[in-house]
Order: sequence, then structure tokens, then C-alpha cells
Amino acid sequence: MFAARRAVSGAFQTRAFSASARDLSKVTVLGAAGGIGQPLSLLLKLNPRVTDLALYDIRGGPGVAADISHINTKSTVTGYDPTPSGLAAALKGAEIVLIPAGVPRKPGMTRDDLFNTNASIVRDLAKAAAESAPNANILVIANPVNSTVPIVAEIFKAKGVYNPKRLFGVTTLDVVRASRFVSEIKKSDPADENITVVGGHSGVTIVPLFSQSSHPDLVGNAELLKRVQFGGDEVVKAKDGAGSATLSMAMAGARFAESLLKAAQGQKGVTEPTFVDSPLYKDQGVDFFASKVELGPDGAEKILDVGKLDAQEQQLLDACLADLKKNIEKGVTFVAQNP
Ligand code: NAD
Ligand code: LMR
Repeated sequence: MFAARRAVSGAFQTRAFSASARDLSKVTVLGAAGGIGQPLSLLLKLNPRVTDLALYDIRGGPGVAADISHINTKSTVTGYDPTPSGLAAALKGAEIVLIPAGVPRKPGMTRDDLFNTNASIVRDLAKAAAESAPNANILVIANPVNSTVPIVAEIFKAKGVYNPKRLFGVTTLDVVRASRFVSEIKKSDPADENITVVGGHSGVTIVPLFSQSSHPDLVGNAELLKRVQFGGDEVVKAKDGAGSATLSMAMAGARFAESLLKAAQGQKGVTEPTFVDSPLYKDQGVDFFASKVELGPDGAEKILDVGKLDAQEQQLLDACLADLKKNIEKGVTFVAQNP
């Protein structure tokens, strides 16, 4: 039974016929009715590069779609119910698939504590994406990102459609936070603070490289380092059981999707930090790593290496790699044991 429900704004038709195929960009959000999913979908509706927005959730997708579809921008918005055909229809033809589906932390939990629940959610959504949108850019937001990204990779490999250039763990929030926290210390405009953050997306795997910023004096600032590595915990604690970062994450996810669309539409020099299948530390058994990545029409065009590190940063990186290796292995093992 085809259970997808549609909520379409008529204005799109004019644009659809006048735009070239290259300019038609369907973006799908899986988990669209959640704390991140709703504001993320809102921001995507405001993005003129998005022409077709598909909102899927196990509950509430059509309601969120109906609401957002009244916003007077040209894109269509379609909500989908949780049936296999609804999920397939949400995914079909997508250029970008964002996955914020999954449970968030409560105080006292680590991101790894979410693994048991979120691993199977991400695995099943990855299977659907591999079948219905094998060429899409897959943007994984669901935690623990260090493990959920390898899970998606293993599923796409098993289905014979893995393209490492099109799989991204969204770590944008780490650089968003780093630039904001630095600007608070330096009394500067965060837009001018370009802080490189490498590694992964949890605790000590988040490695800011202040030596490469315009404030090398911040290397060794333990309080700032803690805020960047454990910024997510600040929000979890403040929300006091009601979840983790949603609004700042929505902004970060929308920024990353916008960068991919810009690059797909021919803009050069678009670079974002992201957790990808990376050659940088494969010799140490670490197959995925977040660093700056230049984006292009085919996804991840060029993976930039971490550059010159301060001795303290090198120590942080060593600790990061040890944890990251275990997190990645956990995701790979999960799929091997629970295909
Ligand atoms: P939430 O509980 O508010 O929303 C999750 C949504 O996912 C819900 O609407 C739920 O119905 C839906 N969902 C659950 N299983 C699904 C499935 N199989 N298919 C489709 N939808 C499904 O949680 P949230 O606050 O939006 O957080 C979502 C995830 O994002 C969490 O795992 C959280 O840890 C993670 N997160 C990641 C980052 C990051 O920087 N990468 C930042 C913040 C949160
Ligand atoms: C974050 O960094 O805010 C997210 O990963 C959510 C969390 O659990 O902290």
C-alpha cells in the first residue's frame, strides 16, 4: 500500500519547469519530526537551493510537512508515513539525505550509550537509502556519529553501492561551537573565527587546532578545550532530561547541506569539516576521520590533512585516534553480527 501523503505548494510548478535539471535538488530528512528534524526542515524550506523537501519520520512526518509547506518559498514539501513504500518514496531521487533519526542523550549518558538503540535505526534507514537513493549524499547526524557512519558504509558496501565520496558524518556543530566560544573569549565576531576541529564527534575525539587559528595563545587553555570537546554535555545538562542540542544542530546541519548544494551547483572552494572515509590515518587502523574536506559535484572532492600540530595538539590527536579506532570497529562489528 502506498501510504505517502502529500502537502505540496503549487508555486513550485513554475520553478520546476523553468529550472534546469542541475538546479533541481531534492533533500530528504529522516527523523523530520524530531527535535533536530523540525528546525532543520524549516531551515531547508528557507533555502532557495532546495526545490523538493521530503520529510519522513516514524510519527508526525505529514504534520510537520503540512505546517512547513505553508511557508511562502517555492519548494514543494512532502510528508511521508512509516511504511516501506513511504520511506522509499521519501528517498527516491534525493540528492541529499540527512539522518537525525535516533534517540538523544540524557544527563549522565555518553554518546556511546546511544549505540544500542541508534545503531539499528541507522542500519535500517541506510538499507532503505542504499536501495532507493544509492547515489545520494548521506549526512549522518544520529549519534554516536563515530560509529553510525561506519554502519552506513558497511550497509552500502553489502548492497554493492558504497561511494565513500558521498558519505558524511556531520561534525559541523563542533566548529560552530569552537568559533563561538573563541569569540566569547576574544570579544570578536564569531564569523571571523575560523577554528579547525579534527578527529571525530565525541569527547576526546574532538580535537580543536587553535595553533592554526589567529589565536595560537589558546593552545593549552584547558577550559576552552573542555567546552569544545564537551559542549554537547553543557546542553544535555541544561535541558535536564529533555534531550540534547537541537537548534544549534539544525543550523549546523542546514549549513552543511547548503555547502553540498553550492558545490554541486558548481561553486568552487567550498570546504567543510566532516567525518569521512579518510586516507589520513588508515595506516593506524582508523578508517574514518573528520578533517576539512573540499566539496564538489561528486561529493567529497579533496580530503585535507590536519597540517602542522603543536606538541599538545599531537597528544590530543593520539588520544583521539585510540578512541576513534574502537568506535569505528564497534560500528563495523555491529553490521557483521546484525546484517
Ligand atoms: P528526538 O528524539 O527529538 O528526534 C528523533 C526523531 O527520530 C523522532 O522524531 C523519532 O520519531 C525519529 N525516529 C526514530 N526512529 C526512527 C526511524 N527508524 N525512522 C525515522 N525516524 C525515526 O532527537 P533529536 O534531539 O532530534 O536527536 C536526534 C539524534 O541526533 C540523536 O541521536 C542525537 O544524539 C543526535 N545529535 C547529533 C548531533 C551532531 O552533532 N551530529 C548534534 C545533536 C544531536
Ligand atoms: C552535540 O554535540 O550536541 C550532540 O552530539 C548531542 C550530544 O549528545 O551531545
